[in-house]
Amino acid sequence: MKQIVILASGSGSNAENIITYFKENPQVTVSAVLTNKKTAKVLERCDRLEVPAFYFNKFAFQNSDAVVGVLKSLQPDLIVLAGFLWKIPTNIIEAFPNKIINIHPALLPKYGGKGMYGAKVHQAVKENAEKETGITIHYVNENYDEGAIIFQAKTAVEPSDDADKIADKVHQLEYEHFPKVIEKLLV
Ligand code: GAR
Repeated sequence: MKQIVILASGSGSNAENIITYFKENPQVTVSAVLTNKKTAKVLERCDRLEVPAFYFNKFAFQNSDAVVGVLKSLQPDLIVLAGFLWKIPTNIIEAFPNKIINIHPALLPKYGGKGMYGAKVHQAVKENAEKETGITIHYVNENYDEGAIIFQAKTAVEPSDDADKIADKVHQLEYEHFPKVIEKLLV
């Protein structure tokens, strides 16, 4: 059985989609979800879906080996960042080489880097009148949104699309592709 650990900071709709997808697959399971936000909706989703979930604070993540210790004890085959907004510290990167992936809601290298997340990305795409946007799934290194790209998918942006509409289109791409890309990496 391959084990996934998900890190998420917010709503967790991708986390839920991944958990649900792998409930049908006896070879892969989401063994836990970790969050840095006590009020994150992803925690409610984990209650409902009966998936173990843990909260950690900034000190545990950035200034101790506590989180890396928890992750090691879970023995993940893949660590999946699904809307996780803190930069991953070196001790975690070094403990899990080529085992941490992230999804970014744009076509990297465009619209990546510190401060570029969620709605801010879609607003920037709109302001720049881009004709297309999409998703990027990539390995995680010490810099925001800079690891090797594993997969990208595109969607057209119409002049009439507002940032919310762009976000909807990107979310649909995420739901369609993210679990399948994870499955390919694992099985
Ligand atoms: C997703 O669109 C994901 O691509 C994005 O946050 C959203 C989380 O939604 N991630 C980033 O912006 C990372 N830089 P969700 O919590 O509903 O899955």
